[in-house]
Amino acid sequence: MTVLVTGAAGFIGFHTCVRLLDRGETVVGVDVMNGYYDVGLKEARLAQLISYPNFTFYRVDIADRAAMAAVAGAHPAIDRYINLAAQPGVRYSLEAPHEYTHANVEGHLVMLELARHNPKLRHFVYASSSSVYGANSKLPFSEDDRVDNPISLYAATKRAGELISHCYAHLYRLPTTGLRFFTVYGPWGRPDMAAYLFAKAIMAGEAIKVFNNGNLRRDFTYIDDIVAGIVAVLDRPPAVIEGSAPARLYNIGNNRSEALLDFVGEVVKALGREARFEFLPMQPGDVPETYADISALARDAGYAPTTPISVGIPKFVEWYKAYHKV
Ligand SMILES: NC(=O)c1ccc[n+]([C@@H]2O[C@H](COP(=O)([O-])OP(=O)(O)OC[C@H]3O[C@@H](n4cnc5c(N)ncnc54)[C@H](O)[C@@H]3O)[C@@H](O)[C@H]2O)c1
Repeated sequence: MTVLVTGAAGFIGFHTCVRLLDRGETVVGVDVMNGYYDVGLKEARLAQLISYPNFTFYRVDIADRAAMAAVAGAHPAIDRYINLAAQPGVRYSLEAPHEYTHANVEGHLVMLELARHNPKLRHFVYASSSSVYGANSKLPFSEDDRVDNPISLYAATKRAGELISHCYAHLYRLPTTGLRFFTVYGPWGRPDMAAYLFAKAIMAGEAIKVFNNGNLRRDFTYIDDIVAGIVAVLDRPPAVIEGSAPARLYNIGNNRSEALLDFVGEVVKALGREARFEFLPMQPGDVPETYADISALARDAGYAPTTPISVGIPKFVEWYKAYHKV
């Protein structure tokens, strides 16, 4: 049996593929390799995946129906999907809104249509985001909280993906699980995210841009914990029971709300350099704090993150230094 993983050359997709391949799965990876950030990093991740004999890769846009149908047609053993391909980033969604509806809404729908027409389908797992909680001030964020006040287009498209998935689960008895990721970091991480931006600025002797004058808190989640959660969920599709949609949604975070400046402090310590700061106002679309209630995922899939930032950041920095040869 085969798993189709989209966004395979992306940060979370790459690590997920490695975990699945290491446990002997056959994996079909799809990624359009767009230039939102350095394509060289995506290629370097992909180069590792391609070394596995049971990995096949397609450079395809998930919103391209004909191309995705061809991928599915070439791999009739696909029985599970992990849809991680997306246009991420809260700030960029103010600049390039159509990229978000294209990948996160149209692309997501194309993936659900593929799954719906697959007679072997066992489970459709997909990425959502903590950003769906918008300006919610009740902490920690729980799956029972209202999520109808998005404050960025990114969040709105991620919420749309959840709603469309629920609709498909209801209409076609399609088992779906959405995972609301909370600020993921680690080796091979994204250059547009905090850990990478801080390391880059420190190494270049530039000031670190700190928004909301440093008054930000995030539930930072280490990549290995995230991947353990994705795989645990994949193996536990919701039961198809008469009278209810087989659709689940979970927070997947670290269940700790850390001050951004403490996170920076760990990067500074691991790099062994001085840091300078440029304090800036809050960015439009950003939220002051995220904090995940993970009790539902712990209960249903045994999810138990084990990596505090004091352990995860040195691992990220070790990779950053090796990758950039600094
Ligand atoms: N990293 C985080 O902290 C975080 C937080 C919340 C949600 N998420 C979600 O998790 C998923 C993975 O995020 P990531 O951090 O690995 O991001 P990433 O940008 O590293 O990976 C996404 C990959 O999808 C590919 N892609 C984009 N549009 C595509 C399309 N139309 N067709 C095919 N491929 C396409 C990109 O080339 C990229 O390699 C995304 O859905 C993202 O929204 C991530």
